[in-house]
Amino acid sequence: MAATDASFVRIVEVGPRDGLQNEKAIVPTAAKVELIDRLSRTGLRSIEATSFVSPKWIPQLADAAEVFAAIERRPGVAYPVLVPNERGYERARAVGAEEVAVFTAASEAFNRKNTNAGIDESIERFRPVLQRARADGVKVRGYVSTVLGCPYQGEVPVADVVRVARRLHELGCYEVSLGDTIGVGTPYKASAMLKAVASEVPMPALAVHFHDTYGQALANILACLEQGVRVVDAAVSGTGGCPYAKGASGNVASEDVVYMLHGMGMRTGVDLDRLGETGRWLAALLGRASGSKVAQAQAAS
Ligand code: HMG
Ligand code: MG
Repeated sequence: MAATDASFVRIVEVGPRDGLQNEKAIVPTAAKVELIDRLSRTGLRSIEATSFVSPKWIPQLADAAEVFAAIERRPGVAYPVLVPNERGYERARAVGAEEVAVFTAASEAFNRKNTNAGIDESIERFRPVLQRARADGVKVRGYVSTVLGCPYQGEVPVADVVRVARRLHELGCYEVSLGDTIGVGTPYKASAMLKAVASEVPMPALAVHFHDTYGQALANILACLEQGVRVVDAAVSGTGGCPYAKGASGNVASEDVVYMLHGMGMRTGVDLDRLGETGRWLAALLGRASGSKVAQAQAAS
């Protein structure tokens, strides 16, 4: 679907990465591969598959190379992977990744906890990644975390979010995802933050990424859709969280986002029944109820 079609929203499914990086029990490699393959068959266009970070920092995704090498790569589906530095980029390229995502934050304190580096230093680490990616024809997405609050710093000035988002875009990230890492945002604040960023980075190059800690994620997404954003990150079954963000809980559930969008007459290309099935399969694998209200309602009907 054309990116210019205002009724189309691209969902970036982050469950296999953001979802599984925060699980206490390590999910077997074969189950990760099955999750991604099932998601590929729902009509999703972007599935963040895994993360080539330090396995000491995120042991849950230490099998990134094995997972990436084993998934079925369907034409028309992008499989971005997280990379924190050149070493991560090389590991990702060695197994054929064609899209990567770099990540930093609007809060200095959070970025130190998450990557052992200040914001400027993390951006310096991305510079060679972006240079090599350009030469290799690899697309790069960028994340800005803590856009609506930080567990260590507290309030995060909107000007800091704008500055970091602009730098990532200027460096060559084709899309910048604005992350409410700990899910503290509320709709008017989310909308104002997005509007401010969109004054410096074109709206078609922006995405929103909400965690649902305080139950505000869908309302925040709606507020941002009204500002014009058309790329939304979400995790099937509402898994997710960052081990280095105290208080972070699950991402907004993809099923709930798709249900809301379809109910509003918008299109995603995603088959909601298949997505709900995949979410319930994942919840059973993780030994708990689905974090998606829609998937629970589907199962009950
Ligand atoms: P460091 O310890 O400062 O790095 O970590 P270092 O360069 O000193 O290296 C230490 C060791 O790690 C060395 O190994 C390196 O080789 C190795 P040793 O010599 O000790 O055996 N190493 C690596 N190994 C594999 N792959 C790599 C790699 N890099 C170094 N890429 C580092 C710095 C950035 C690596 C570390 O802090 C890290 O990996 N952090 C990642 C934390 C993370 O993944 N957090 C979650 C993702 S972000 C998120 O969830 C937010 C988001 O969802 C949006 C939102 O919600 O806001 C995106
Ligand atoms: Mg996240």
